[in-house]
Amino acid sequence: MGSRDDGKHSGASGVDHRFAALAEEIKARYEKAVVKVVDLDDYAADDDEYEERLKKETMAFFMVATYGDGEPTDNAARFYKWFTEGNERESWLQQLTYGVFGLGNRQYEHFNKVTLILKRRTHQLNKAFCAKRLIQVGLGDDDQCIEYDFTAWRELLWPELDQLLRDEDDENTASIPYTDVIPEYRVVIHDPGAMHSQDNYSNGANGNASYDIHHPCRVNVVVQRVLHKPESDRSCIHLEFDISETGITYETGDHVGVYADNCIDTVEEAVKLLGQPPDLLFSLHTDNEDGTSHGSSLPPPFPGPCTVRTALKQYADLLNPPRKAAHATDPSEAEKLNFLSSASGKDEYSQSVVGSQRSLLEVMAAFPSAKVPLGNVVPREKSQDCSSAPIFIRQSNFKLPADPSIPVIMVGTGTGLAPFRGFLQERMALKEEGGQLGPSVLFSGCRNRRMDFIYEDELNNFVEQGALSKLIVAFSREGPQKEYVQHKMMDKAAYVWSLISKGGYLYVCGDAKGMARDVHRPLHTIVQEQVWIVAFSYFLLSMFFGNACSDN
Ligand code: 2AM
Repeated sequence: MGSRDDGKHSGASGVDHRFAALAEEIKARYEKAVVKVVDLDDYAADDDEYEERLKKETMAFFMVATYGDGEPTDNAARFYKWFTEGNERESWLQQLTYGVFGLGNRQYEHFNKVTLILKRRTHQLNKAFCAKRLIQVGLGDDDQCIEYDFTAWRELLWPELDQLLRDEDDENTASIPYTDVIPEYRVVIHDPGAMHSQDNYSNGANGNASYDIHHPCRVNVVVQRVLHKPESDRSCIHLEFDISETGITYETGDHVGVYADNCIDTVEEAVKLLGQPPDLLFSLHTDNEDGTSHGSSLPPPFPGPCTVRTALKQYADLLNPPRKAAHATDPSEAEKLNFLSSASGKDEYSQSVVGSQRSLLEVMAAFPSAKVPLGNVVPREKSQDCSSAPIFIRQSNFKLPADPSIPVIMVGTGTGLAPFRGFLQERMALKEEGGQLGPSVLFSGCRNRRMDFIYEDELNNFVEQGALSKLIVAFSREGPQKEYVQHKMMDKAAYVWSLISKGGYLYVCGDAKGMARDVHRPLHTIVQEQVWIVAFSYFLLSMFFGNACSDN
């Protein structure tokens, strides 16, 4: 069983296609295996039945993802809590043989944290009870390629399962090749006269407030403004959505996921490259009634019948690097694409596709004989031009301290400023209600005051109104040398330490690859140096008073 997600997207209900494919392969290999693929959220029903059901399992494989702050996905949260916090897991574990594969991204500090905590917990319980881990825990890394990690982990499984499950009659099935693990949906072409194109996005009019990644709510954009100044060669847009009458709620620090349309030029280019008539009406299906093909569910949020043009405009991820390459008919293109999909082509794929941010469209243009099936062009989650957009909320752990008098240190670069703008708005509201605010400092990083110092007036206003004690901005491209937030933090080491030593909360938001890691080092230095300075000052003082006393 598995929980959907790869550490990047929201974890609403659904089963990861890799685990679904694994289940199919186990069924195909071992006659006696009875295999179920279960969304962890369905598995973790909130009643006694749940535990009873768990006790009947003899073998279980878990696929769990970790979000940026080291949290489980939404659909794994209940199981995770039950498993890690409870003390009564014996009866289940006594008979369980299990395996765990994690979905994470090494660029994040808490790489596969949920998986590793499950590993530690099972290890503790293993010692106490008789549970057996079948193979080592797999740690998928989305920064490289989770498919490769998963394939390697899966290959370790067969010798172990052969011992446990193989009957004499079972054929020695060869492993399903890596490329077949990616789900392909059955495309059904519809008669244009027989049905209308459908939009799968709710507009909230039904009062249904349980929106998620699979069921986003289409809302109007009420404010749309460009944040970067005209001199900037990059774009950054501020959007505000009208969620009145949708029932959607959120707290400061939560995330909003936005599905927005591809612009018309991109759609037209994709139509040409795909070689499909733009008005072709089609729908995607899974092979099984229960919504599974290789056991996999439809990608979020998949539409009813719609035209190729609508699908490319509203549902296709055209501008991100493709996760898979195949389908070319020209032999030399096919050879190159097969190489990129293979384990030996892993590094080249990382560099030439992911590293250089080549979009699906660019890759398709470079391999003209590669006609990507319609079912493989979805899904996507990103933002473009919009007057309305389907959105959903994802809760986060990024929250202000419950006690507003606790000091707060915020470090954000680029759009990493976003949650802190929310924090400061909240602090402002608290202050207006008469709350006592503790000191706060924002270290913000951008390139150049004339280009990308976003929300400048608003930030200055927070300082004037007392919601923010200090605003310290690092402009990386104004002087001859790079000036980053961590340099500013070092300049203000004594102040940063004074807030930390009062129990202050420190938040870092921005590019996990470089900045979040680089901020760690100066923090260590600040703590070490400041502790040393305090200790040395005490030493000098005690010497002084000691001498003064002895002089007397
Ligand atoms: P740079 O692009 O000039 O290197 C937002 O992207 C800001 O974060 C930019 O000013 C960017 O500077 C800066 N930035 C890039 N890498 C960083 C790092 N490792 N640490 C801190 N700031 C960084």
